[in-house]
Amino acid sequence: MTKTFIQQSFAERIGGNKFGNDAVLYKFEKIKRAKREARKNNPTMELIDLGVGEPDWMAEKEVIEVLYEQAKLRENRGYADNGIQVFKDAAVQYMEKVYQVYGLNSNNEVNHGIGSKSILALLPLAFINPGDITIMTVPGYPVMGTMTKALGGEVVNLPLLAENSFLPELDSLTSMQRHKAKLLYINYPNNPTGATATEEFFEKVVQFAKENEIIVVSDAAYAALTFEGQPLSFLSVEGAKDVGIEIHSLSKAFNMTGWRLAFVCGNELVVKGFATVKDDNDSGQFTAIQKAGVYCLQHPEITKKTALKYSRRHTMLVKALKRIGFTVTKPRASFYLYTGIPHSTKSGRCFTSAEDFSEFLLKEALISVVPWDDAGAYIRLSVTFEARDEKEEERIISEIVRRLDNIGFIF
Ligand SMILES: Cc1ncc(COP(=O)(O)O)c(C=O)c1O
Repeated sequence: MTKTFIQQSFAERIGGNKFGNDAVLYKFEKIKRAKREARKNNPTMELIDLGVGEPDWMAEKEVIEVLYEQAKLRENRGYADNGIQVFKDAAVQYMEKVYQVYGLNSNNEVNHGIGSKSILALLPLAFINPGDITIMTVPGYPVMGTMTKALGGEVVNLPLLAENSFLPELDSLTSMQRHKAKLLYINYPNNPTGATATEEFFEKVVQFAKENEIIVVSDAAYAALTFEGQPLSFLSVEGAKDVGIEIHSLSKAFNMTGWRLAFVCGNELVVKGFATVKDDNDSGQFTAIQKAGVYCLQHPEITKKTALKYSRRHTMLVKALKRIGFTVTKPRASFYLYTGIPHSTKSGRCFTSAEDFSEFLLKEALISVVPWDDAGAYIRLSVTFEARDEKEEERIISEIVRRLDNIGFIF
């Protein structure tokens, strides 16, 4: 009886009375289960995990030390609400030093968040009424779109295609879509394509946003992890602050995914709207974590060291995959490598989708990757695999080559 009324009570946005019963599993849950199964069936073989979207390194020991010291202080014990001023000041200085974004006001143009995921989930609350549109890019990080739909809004997905350097074609939007759109989500360096934006693209986005009166949300979660050229911020482009904000995260840049710390900066009114909905939803990140975050923002060289590791691993993996026959280019930033799937194996196994191919890879070669079928059949490989040192990295890469060579793919 109780079970029935609870089952009837679920909101439509999570499946209504069918919640928990549907056969459609969230992709990453499916991968987790498949990995467990593959390990069970091959207990003596090493599973090479190229599917993990988070750093393999821990936060720097100096950062952990700051947290330890600050956690002991009485002054840090309370609700942090919309954040401490020293973190906001450090964020402004960081934007100047790393991205040459000058003139942000730390009093009203910056606010921390409990990770960028949380910021993306909260932003639609400030802007989306039923029927309003959020423009997203696919494949991509879906959180802002999911929350838009939960609020009765609509999502228009723009595909990221190789022929457009994985940049969205804003011109393809209809006038009705432009009229109803309130938010445009862009994410460069991009998850999962690894693509980076250009200044020209950002300028085009600013112009598009002005012409159509659409707020731009630039998710820069991987921007600091640039190893070729300089990290690029949307806010460095003229006029960007008039139309939008950018989100920076300490998760990937400082190996702190579990610490939950990010900040939003840019347009004063958008930041104010975010801070208002945030205030209704959480009480801020622990002040000691924010103070450890201040240390990080004052030490951007931490990110450079991490980025060098990813760059090295990318070089090795690209070389290995090319040998197998994949068409793949080393990205300029992030830890993601994105490549199209083979057509079949020499023994005649054809692949119908990226999901099909990644299941095959896991079963036959014990290599885990993430499939994307939203805009072509691609897999995402992350160079965050566990490896103690460079020798271990080399061993893993040669093992990947050995296993894939054994199968023999036709492209
Ligand atoms: C594009 C993108 N944005 C945001 C996030 C969330 O990061 P955070 O740890 O700051 O919530 C991720 C995490 O994978 C991501 O890939």
